[in-house]
Amino acid sequence: MTFLLVLGREPKISLAELEAIFSSSKVKHIAPQLALVTAHSIPLNRLGGTIKAAQILDEPIQDFLSKLPDGKITLGISDYSEHANPRKTWELALKYKNMLKRHGRNVRLVPNGKSPILTSAASHHNQLGEKTNHIEIVKFSKYTGISIGTQNITAYAKRDQARPARDAFVGMLPPKLAQILINLATTGAKSGTILDPFCGTGVILQESVLMGYSAYGTDLSEKMIQYSQKNLDWIASRTPRLQKSNAPKLYLEAGDATDHQWKATRPDYIASEIYLGHPLSAPPAEIKLKQLQQDAKMLLVGFLKNIGSQISAGTQLALATPSWKRPDGSYSGVNILDEIDKLGYNAIKYRYASYDDLLYYREDQIVARQIIVLRKK
Ligand SMILES: C[S@@+](CC[C@H](N)C(=O)[O-])C[C@H]1O[C@@H](n2cnc3c(N)ncnc32)[C@H](O)[C@@H]1O
Repeated sequence: MTFLLVLGREPKISLAELEAIFSSSKVKHIAPQLALVTAHSIPLNRLGGTIKAAQILDEPIQDFLSKLPDGKITLGISDYSEHANPRKTWELALKYKNMLKRHGRNVRLVPNGKSPILTSAASHHNQLGEKTNHIEIVKFSKYTGISIGTQNITAYAKRDQARPARDAFVGMLPPKLAQILINLATTGAKSGTILDPFCGTGVILQESVLMGYSAYGTDLSEKMIQYSQKNLDWIASRTPRLQKSNAPKLYLEAGDATDHQWKATRPDYIASEIYLGHPLSAPPAEIKLKQLQQDAKMLLVGFLKNIGSQISAGTQLALATPSWKRPDGSYSGVNILDEIDKLGYNAIKYRYASYDDLLYYREDQIVARQIIVLRKK
């Protein structure tokens, strides 16, 4: 089956995630925000970088609509075509409604307002793609698909903001980015143990267990280990499948990533956001920047040397590393690529995303995250 996927705010990072899960031959980038994926199914709630997925129809849309099961129909349309306009999209929605009415069907249309695309909130609120007869037609150029769902923004926000132990200084990785790092490291494998050696308050650990992996968190700070424990207890208390006897395991202990021995279990994958340094409110002066880069590099190299002898060949690591904004608006990170080889790793390359494309940032952020993906030789 072919699916049309709507990519997130950083489409190149979303594409790398899709390549990791489905392999690059199954992914085709067809517009800045859109990709086609050939697959049996799309695990939308595990893909941090994908906003919406629609199955491409292999029959005319009228035929599909005329076969919908009995009951009231809720219908919306999102048209991602370059020259789509809201009025035409609405007229099309009315046309389908009238056609269905002629067949005796009761239809409610979801208004698309001033845009040819329904907002994620509108799609989600109306459960389009998630319930029988709640239909969202997704169009792009010659493609027409039926939505299988939209990213659950409410659930992400809850997992992000309702956690009991938070630390403004350590900063929190958005759960969507945690999922992306996990997918880049596991390349879609369904089980195993994910290690986060800089676990902080445990966002990656939380997303790992929710995705069915066991999680191993370590951090220099004993306080962070307690925070992670508290947050993981919280997520388990509200997730029945995490309370079962066969639920993913959690290992937590304090340790310095540059010399720790991970003995509780052998990690299969590593997904982590390394220490990003102090939060900054303005771009650092050039001399300060050099110092920050040197410190971060020492930590990263120290960690890679240490973990190298403790993981099997082929183990993949997805790491978010700091990259600092310069006064001219460009970003400058930890230059490690030249040393990867002699440290015993290969850097993973993606068809649709270069190294520079894997920069995750918001305009107002001084410290952005450069994602690097490595494989132990
Ligand atoms: C950027 S935070 C990780 C945040 C985490 N991803 C989260 O969402 O909560 C980095 C963490 O690295 C820890 N850290 C700093 N130096 C370390 C070291 N040498 N070994 C292990 N952890 C270290 C800090 O205590 C901090 O909790």
